[in-house]
Amino acid sequence: MDTKVAKLLNEQINKELYSAYLYLDFSNYYAEEGLDGFENWYRIQAQEERDHAMLFYQYLLNNGQKVTFEAIAKPEWEMGDRMAPLKAGLAHEKYVTSLINDIYAAAFEVHDFRTMQLLDWFVKEQGEEEKNASDMITKMELFGTDAKGLYMLNSELKGRVYSAPSLVL
Ligand code: FEO
Repeated sequence: MDTKVAKLLNEQINKELYSAYLYLDFSNYYAEEGLDGFENWYRIQAQEERDHAMLFYQYLLNNGQKVTFEAIAKPEWEMGDRMAPLKAGLAHEKYVTSLINDIYAAAFEVHDFRTMQLLDWFVKEQGEEEKNASDMITKMELFGTDAKGLYMLNSELKGRVYSAPSLVL
């Protein structure tokens, strides 16, 4: 595998684990707020991010690459009202999309079609991740300002259940 592509994939393991840590922090924030539906939604989101990390890890191992783990940074986001994590979440997903695109561009440059095929799944996934994050903001804007609406929204988010990634390596 091309050195640059392998390095970027290795770094992406760390970025995905950071995403998990960030979303666990959001979950923790909502737990303190007493909003167990939001807490649940972000806890599941954190699990999805760990899955993403494991997919990159396994892919590197499957291709005989050495993996190096680095420290995972402290979750950084600006606290504010209950909308703040949702906005930070969307901004973060856009950032992750840019990282996936960068790896794709590097793989494209060296005709690493196998890695491009792996990344096709992540490109699609990022589309869904950004939409989910954006939908959360819209729903919060529409219903979150009124106590009954917030209760209903929280109840809806409590119903989210974990499902394993559709990508099998
Ligand atoms: Fe791993 Fe939320 O993208």
